[in-house]
Amino acid sequence: MAVRDAVMAGIAKQLGHPSGLRGRFVGMLLNRGNRAFVSAAVQALQPQPSAEVADIGFGGGVGLRFLLDSVGKAGLVHGVEISETMLVRARHRYRREIAAGRLTLRQGSLAELPFDDGQLSGLITVNTIYFVTELDRVFAELARVVNGSGRIVIGLADPDAMAKMPTSRHGFHLRPVAEVVEALRRAGLSVEHRRIDRSTLPAHLLICTPASPAG
Ligand SMILES: C[S@@+](CC[C@H](N)C(=O)[O-])C[C@H]1O[C@@H](n2cnc3c(N)ncnc32)[C@H](O)[C@@H]1O
Repeated sequence: MAVRDAVMAGIAKQLGHPSGLRGRFVGMLLNRGNRAFVSAAVQALQPQPSAEVADIGFGGGVGLRFLLDSVGKAGLVHGVEISETMLVRARHRYRREIAAGRLTLRQGSLAELPFDDGQLSGLITVNTIYFVTELDRVFAELARVVNGSGRIVIGLADPDAMAKMPTSRHGFHLRPVAEVVEALRRAGLSVEHRRIDRSTLPAHLLICTPASPAG
């Protein structure tokens, strides 16, 4: 049992911060397993051609491809990651888009984003908030970087389903969706909640827009 626990803890650590050779493999698996979910998040974002958008915690980077395709050649996509391994992988995979000035990749954190106030018209962050301790700080930061008519899409797997997975016991912060929605509202965001029924793991998309001053 101790060995199994150690293996699960190792996988959980890699999911939260992929690194080294194993991390590169995890990036590949993430792209495969989360492709449809990340695609649904980008569709919910509704990025307009020529928009400036971001994927925060892009992992294997499949979301960057969907965003690039959505905003077209006149748009600008940013990827932010804490994992150097994921950044190296994406820098290689998207070298042409970076050279063409269509994509920037930067090391950074959900809690401290390398963007000016209101710089973006949209962002997605999928399967990342389980690794965040300070939800209020992170949501305030997401709200800061998106402009008044912008949109934030947060993707998370269902916390009850995740609680049954052996990896999630190792350092994941699993919160009821209602708690996450409340935290988003505290950050001044209006939230639409969409359920995604996946055969693998049910999931949720929280589609957020800045609330009007009246509430
Ligand atoms: C489970 S993976 C999800 C990757 C991708 N979004 C997907 O759904 O396939 C979580 C990713 O978030 C990144 N991450 C974790 N905490 C982060 C933070 N505080 N700021 C930015 N990225 C973070 C990790 O390095 C990892 O690549």
